[in-house]
Amino acid sequence: MAKSLSFPQGFLWGGAIAANQAEGAWNVAGKGPSVADAISWKPNLSLKDYAGHAALTDENVQDALLGRNDALYPKRRGIDFYHHYKEDIALFAEMGFKVLRVSIAWSRIFPTGEDAEPNEAGLQFYEDLFRELRRHHIEPLVTLSHYEMPLALSEKYNGWVHRNVVDAFVRFSKVCFERYKDLVRYWLTFNEIDSIHRHPFTTAGIREEKSAPGKAKQDIYQGLHHQFVASALVTRDCHAIIPGSLVGCMLTKLTTYPHSCRPEDVEATLKKNLENYFYADVQVFGEYPPLILRDLERRGIEIAMHDEDRHILKQHTVDFVSFSYYMSMTESTQPDAERIPGNTVLGVKNPYLPASEWGWQIDPLGLKISLLELYDRYQKPLFIVENGLGAKDVVVDGKIHDDYRIDYFRAHFEQTLAAIHEGVEVMGFTTWGCIDIISAGTSQMSKRYGFIYVDQDDEGNGSLQRLRKDSFWWYQRVIASNGADMN
Ligand code: BG6
Repeated sequence: MAKSLSFPQGFLWGGAIAANQAEGAWNVAGKGPSVADAISWKPNLSLKDYAGHAALTDENVQDALLGRNDALYPKRRGIDFYHHYKEDIALFAEMGFKVLRVSIAWSRIFPTGEDAEPNEAGLQFYEDLFRELRRHHIEPLVTLSHYEMPLALSEKYNGWVHRNVVDAFVRFSKVCFERYKDLVRYWLTFNEIDSIHRHPFTTAGIREEKSAPGKAKQDIYQGLHHQFVASALVTRDCHAIIPGSLVGCMLTKLTTYPHSCRPEDVEATLKKNLENYFYADVQVFGEYPPLILRDLERRGIEIAMHDEDRHILKQHTVDFVSFSYYMSMTESTQPDAERIPGNTVLGVKNPYLPASEWGWQIDPLGLKISLLELYDRYQKPLFIVENGLGAKDVVVDGKIHDDYRIDYFRAHFEQTLAAIHEGVEVMGFTTWGCIDIISAGTSQMSKRYGFIYVDQDDEGNGSLQRLRKDSFWWYQRVIASNGADMN
């Protein structure tokens, strides 16, 4: 008899948020400014502008360092999760979450990144948060770096370009492992490590204008190398300090199809996809892929590596591969091919796919394709740690009828199940922005992903009241039935 389709027992259903987009309280209880606190909201940008993170000025950095102009910096206020976390976790528990992905704001623990002692108030906040999750039987999945390094390190070293930042990050991580060793088993090192090329400041505190002329790319690759080394060292420490812990890498899965079967399009697509794999390749296989090394050489990019770096990368590879998946795109070598925005990228439009209000092309089957590709390549357990639909929700009589979000998730869950059925090992699924938070790319509040509505507009007006959307009750049923009931 054919085996019936079902998610594995113990499948980790849940949601995901990041400190810089949710917590707010950006300068409370000793927290130092982070790079996210310097990113201002710019009204009326076009969709294409939103495909990249908006440019940063010296003024933005000074505003953050001096604590000016709060209103223009939505990530400083988030949704005040810092003060609302108990209420929010109770709502996640009501939905039946098994896991919540959160990140630790590095500058809450080390305000400048290099302080003599960690900030006890910051450590205590996360201890309380993790205890609250455990009280509700929710497993924390913790990202150590999610677009929120201390601004002081960005200023002093041009972020990850300088090797000293590796030491600072390893120290920060070690403090976290020691403190939370009884509370947290699942860890991610760098969120979307590949995004360093798309938004170097947000990901790695790097401002290209600080590089020597013609050396901006080289600096970005150097910063990336430092993150690879730091990730491996932190993986080593996590395994040593927390026996049985599992550490994952985290990739933006930018699945790309050839726009046509012209061999030129197929080759351009292959290169795009190989580039996307490169980051996980290093963290899973413990070495740079030869084609990437050759490409860097041809482009005149020289990465300074310490003698022991190769050994470190090889010795301390990750236990699982996590990734975000929102959309797919196509690639073409035709100069007039129409490009539309996706997750901080511009890709060639796929005529077969619908798109979100922000232009991201919705492709559930692309998730199954991504799972098959990743599992075939790495043969490591996979964890979908971000997926969701950014949409403008409307409140009518206190209700939010977000069928579009339910349809989106249903289709993505079904494709996940189909991949599991074909043999892919999937640990869990944390939906992105399970409660409305500030958008990473646009700093808008109106780009909502949550099952829980938060009453706040782009300018920060609102009561911050939390409301259950229709999708809240739907996801509750999905989890309760371990995915058997998706109607
Ligand atoms: C991912 C990021 O790339 O996309 C998240 O890891 C982000 O931080 C998510 O919020 C959705 O993007 P956006 O720009 O719509 O918030």
